[in-house]
Amino acid sequence: MVLITLALTLAVVGLLYLMMTWNFNYWRRRRVPGPKPKLFVGNYPNMFSMKRHLIYDLQDIYRKYKSKYDAVGVYGGRLPQLLVINPDLAHRVFVSDFKHFHDNEVAKFIDEKTDFIFANNPFSLTGDEWKERRAEVTPGLTMGRVKTVYPVTNTVCKQLSEWVEKQIRLGASATGGIDAKDMSLRFTSETVTDCVLGLKADSFSDKPTPIMSHIKNLFNQPWTFMIFFILTNTFPLLSRLIKLRFVPIKAESFFLGLMASAVEARRAQQAGGKQFERTDFLDYILQLADKKDLNNRQLLARTMTFLLDGFETSAGVLAHMLLLLGRDPEAQQRLREEILPRLKNGIIPFDELNDLPYLDACLNESLRLFPPAFMSNKLCTETIELPNKDGPNFVVEKGTTVIVPHYCFMQDEEFFNDSQAFQPERFLEPDAAKKYKDSGVFMGFGDGPRICIGMRFATVQVKAAIAELITKFNVRVNPKTRKDNELEATGILASLRGGIWLDFESRQ
Ligand code: HEM
Ligand SMILES: *[C@@H]1O[C@H](CO)[C@@H](O)[C@H](O)[C@H]1NC(C)=O
Ligand SMILES: *[C@@H]1O[C@H](CO)[C@@H](O)[C@H](O)[C@H]1NC(C)=O
Repeated sequence: MVLITLALTLAVVGLLYLMMTWNFNYWRRRRVPGPKPKLFVGNYPNMFSMKRHLIYDLQDIYRKYKSKYDAVGVYGGRLPQLLVINPDLAHRVFVSDFKHFHDNEVAKFIDEKTDFIFANNPFSLTGDEWKERRAEVTPGLTMGRVKTVYPVTNTVCKQLSEWVEKQIRLGASATGGIDAKDMSLRFTSETVTDCVLGLKADSFSDKPTPIMSHIKNLFNQPWTFMIFFILTNTFPLLSRLIKLRFVPIKAESFFLGLMASAVEARRAQQAGGKQFERTDFLDYILQLADKKDLNNRQLLARTMTFLLDGFETSAGVLAHMLLLLGRDPEAQQRLREEILPRLKNGIIPFDELNDLPYLDACLNESLRLFPPAFMSNKLCTETIELPNKDGPNFVVEKGTTVIVPHYCFMQDEEFFNDSQAFQPERFLEPDAAKKYKDSGVFMGFGDGPRICIGMRFATVQVKAAIAELITKFNVRVNPKTRKDNELEATGILASLRGGIWLDFESRQ
């Protein structure tokens, strides 16, 4: 009896081991070099231990192989992935060979039934459906519409600085400073909710509506993702059966209700005979709804694109930009001197926002040091043969996951001298941004046909908030904040480990 049990156990363990490792020669067979994967974790030991941000696993590999190859083979669990380590190849993936890589990997893990909202985001849609949806929502985000809601942005900027004044009065510095991420999220929740839906989130009051907390929860569920990825990377067939739910059911019904009330309010205003004067996103979405006969749920799916993608990303950029300016009083003063003469009634006129080179450079430099999108997981959609520097040419088959680790390029001394330092000047060299982008080393908003559709909206929000805060306050970093640029170990978007704590001092 004991023997049989033992034999059975051994057989099961043996089988499991075989199953876990049988495709570990996937890349060797295709003559693609790469590091040896480990049982269960593949080449991502830190993703599973959650001790360090997983991008550092890729950075170790990147540094070791980049002089010899353009791409190496790695494993996420037991799933083979092509890791792009040459920025020219990254540029091919995003731009010149787009037709071979036009989908995002996440599409494999979700479907409409389990996650209606996320499945309808352009980011997750594939093929023709993606093309159609992108074309459908993009006109909602033209410069014209961003300009229409600029007064809303300015109003929220005032609320932001009043809120900061209040924190100063309450003695924030003495109690560890202001949590920059929380403050930034209040700002973006308010601008996005108002700009997109025409509703107030009361983000700066003591009793904000639940909008912010729902959004916070979305981006704070490390376990869900880890367990999901372990399961589906270990048993790829499972990804057909179980799907990822990014937007929890509670949040989904909350936003459905919110959408309904926004639509109702706007329709009532229209029916009331007074032509609503705001040609904003909701206005556009409602036109779309009439044209295409969309119901509330379908409307929500389209609108949530703006909400989901707009809060955390822009808030993260704002918080890290304040961190970097707080650490560098000279840059802060230079920026202030650029902005102050341009203010009219306390705000920068919309048409001049894009005519402030140092502000632009600071924004780009902070995207470089803390890119919310630190890597992109693409899917090969059409088999392609690629060169590999010192190694032989190889074939990437349709269906293969292709990883572009933007962060590694952005932190590489070969492309950015003194890469850990905040040096906005590097973006002031003639054509710097274009050169960086075309060589594939810097694409903070992506590139090619799938480039971020919210770029204009996001940069306007962030620039307006920075202008408001920098001209009204001196910003310093509270000593509680770490001095280096180490990233938080977990999180869907990259951020400074331990949080960002700021001390503000009124300049009036
Ligand atoms: C500063 C803030 C933002 C940053 C840094 C950012 C960054 C990015 C990046 C890097 C991508 C491309 C990802 C890839 O191809 O791998 C992307 C895509 C996207 N972004 Fe943004 N984003 C920001 C704000 C926004 C906002 C405010 C919106 C909406 C209002 C938005 C909507 C989208 C959408 C829908 C896509 C997918 C586009 C597609 O696949 O066709 N983003 N973003
Ligand atoms: C910053 O980046 C954006 C987007 O890539 C680009 O259009 C802009 O010219 C850049 N600005 C500077 C000063 O580098
Ligand atoms: C970095 O600095 C060195 C020496 O200061 C210089 O030779 C090199 O060209 C610089 N590299 C870049 C990418 O600017």
